Amino acid sequence: MSNRGNFSSKLGFILAAAGSAVGLGNIWRFPYLAGTNGGAGFLFIYLICVLMLCFPVMVGEIAIGRNAGSDAFGSYKKLGGGNWGYLGLYGILAGVLILSYYNVVAGWAFGYFLEISFGNLLDHQDFGSFFGDYVNDIGPLFFFSLGFMVITAVIVAQGIAKGIEAANKIMMPGLYIILIGLIIYSLTLPHAMDGVRFYLVPDFSEIHSKTIFYALCQAFFSLSLGMGCLITYGSYVTKDQNIVKSAVIISMADTSVAFLAGLMVFPLVFSLGAEPGQGPKLIFVILTQAFQSMGPFVGRIVGGSFFLLICFAALTSTISLLEVPAAYFVDQKKLPRKAVVWGVSGLIFVLGIPTMYSQGLVPFLNKLPFHNSPDFLSFVADLCDIMLVSGGCIMCLFIRSKWRVGSLNNELAIGNPGYVGSFVQGYINFAISWFCPVVLGILSILVIVDKYYGLEWLFG
Ligand code: TRP
Repeated sequence: MSNRGNFSSKLGFILAAAGSAVGLGNIWRFPYLAGTNGGAGFLFIYLICVLMLCFPVMVGEIAIGRNAGSDAFGSYKKLGGGNWGYLGLYGILAGVLILSYYNVVAGWAFGYFLEISFGNLLDHQDFGSFFGDYVNDIGPLFFFSLGFMVITAVIVAQGIAKGIEAANKIMMPGLYIILIGLIIYSLTLPHAMDGVRFYLVPDFSEIHSKTIFYALCQAFFSLSLGMGCLITYGSYVTKDQNIVKSAVIISMADTSVAFLAGLMVFPLVFSLGAEPGQGPKLIFVILTQAFQSMGPFVGRIVGGSFFLLICFAALTSTISLLEVPAAYFVDQKKLPRKAVVWGVSGLIFVLGIPTMYSQGLVPFLNKLPFHNSPDFLSFVADLCDIMLVSGGCIMCLFIRSKWRVGSLNNELAIGNPGYVGSFVQGYINFAISWFCPVVLGILSILVIVDKYYGLEWLFG
């Protein structure tokens, strides 16, 4: 473990993992998925998924990483031998694919930050059609996404403590402050309570099997699970840290930001008389409208800061995504960190190009023959979701059949004297050996069917 680097403090790891978790997933994806999937019903299922399925997986990943002290591939190989390393590679591939489209969406947010702060975006009338034109204006977007990738690469090239920790310490508190400010504002608007009701009072007849799939995939994505990101971060964690407690804090930080983002968005949606189920453009349309209604000066300041904070949140996530393949090449292939980071970032940027062109510019790229993933962006995003959930399932099988639940318990007991014999231990053991692999396995298959063929295909 000589030159791999460690987080400089306990808080450093928690902040970095929370920074990885909190990102576009919370502020962009969570509200629009909740909006298309029934609001409160979605929130309810989401919380259950976080608690019952995601939490044990998170604990398992961090424990594997700290015990093995290596990247995703190296950790599985070291603890499992044989072909288990491929599970790490599967996760690394998922990370590369996620970053390829994530970076494009981050480019949109970066563009909105610049347009609102310096331009005249808020003078427009119809923000829906503005967004449609914007994501097809390839020149600036190419530049913004490239800029985002370069900033990510510069930070990751610096190595663990300096780059990643420093970025997180500024961003997290700022994000909470601006979210809470916007929630207070949105709650004072007329009809805000209709939004609150939509978001907080579940209508159980509205919950479908699809709600469960989307909520589960979103929870995995939002908590950065299932692809070895937390194995990699876990490998930089020192032995005096309490993994279970850290996982509780990370999950709560992530879930609270998603929750607050919803609480900000839906009162705005209802007070503007807008449609909650408008998909990926939701926050770009609703928030710009809200900033416009604050007047030209205040709107520009508040809107600019809000999109800037989204960019920071996205940046701490892209950093964690790039760190996974980077750690692999540094640890396994003994390549120099800087060269690896620039090489991998370049590749990922190129992989993202079809996504950039998939919002209407190239007709073929938004008419793919898949049931729920007709455009290239949703196609890759759905593929990644499936990789995460199935990756989480296989990780549980790995612990259960190869590394052993006993070794997991030993690792979790380090830095956590009360762990052995506790209720939490009982639940984690049950979840890792039975509940998670079974439920995640079944749901992965159903999600594949749903996204690419449509569930009707299976059930008639
Ligand atoms: N969790 C981040 C978000 O919500 C995205 C992310 C970062 C991620 N690292 C990950 C998702 C690893 C899956 C796996 O925006």
